[in-house]
Amino acid sequence: MHKDVDYIMFTKEQLQARVHALGAAIETDFAGKCPVILCIMKGSLVFTADLMREINLPCTLESISLSSYRSMATRPGELTMTQPFEVDVTDRDVLVVEDILDTGKTLSFVMNLLGKQAPASLKLAVLLDKPSRRITDISADYVGFTIPDAFVVGYGLDFDQKYRNLPYIGVLKPSVYSV
Ligand code: IMP
Repeated sequence: MHKDVDYIMFTKEQLQARVHALGAAIETDFAGKCPVILCIMKGSLVFTADLMREINLPCTLESISLSSYRSMATRPGELTMTQPFEVDVTDRDVLVVEDILDTGKTLSFVMNLLGKQAPASLKLAVLLDKPSRRITDISADYVGFTIPDAFVVGYGLDFDQKYRNLPYIGVLKPSVYSV
């Protein structure tokens, strides 16, 4: 285990099993369609890569880059788009894939922008849900795990751009970010 990780919340095997189950549910719900899978970079890169391989349907892949700068791990940051929003989802069945639903600010912003393009349908898949911190009215259609209010890293999730490559989801030691 990484020295900055307090404890492992979900192992590689638990993540694999849950992503497999989510993929099966999505495959059933989107049967007969060709969804566009929209990866919110960079945090959901690993989750999207695994999830899309569990969905045996014709589909396309798009990504958008957002960054929410945090001076402290536990405080929500200012949201900025690091690229222009160039994805066109008009008349498409859209599956937005995100790493974590925390305050909901990021996904409320994204779902609102996408909704304005009149997609045929718009669904949201998140690996992790932290409902206790929600400040906007949003919920996901597919949730990997509901978790308590802890700052987690790994499997794509970062602190200060680090730890994304850990193969598990771990709780970061508070001493790492509360300096
Ligand atoms: P929001 O607060 O729901 O808008 O989430 C904004 C972003 O903060 C998420 O997309 C994540 O990238 C990041 N985030 C929220 N909670 C955590 C966490 O526990 N670990 C790592 N990143 C997080």
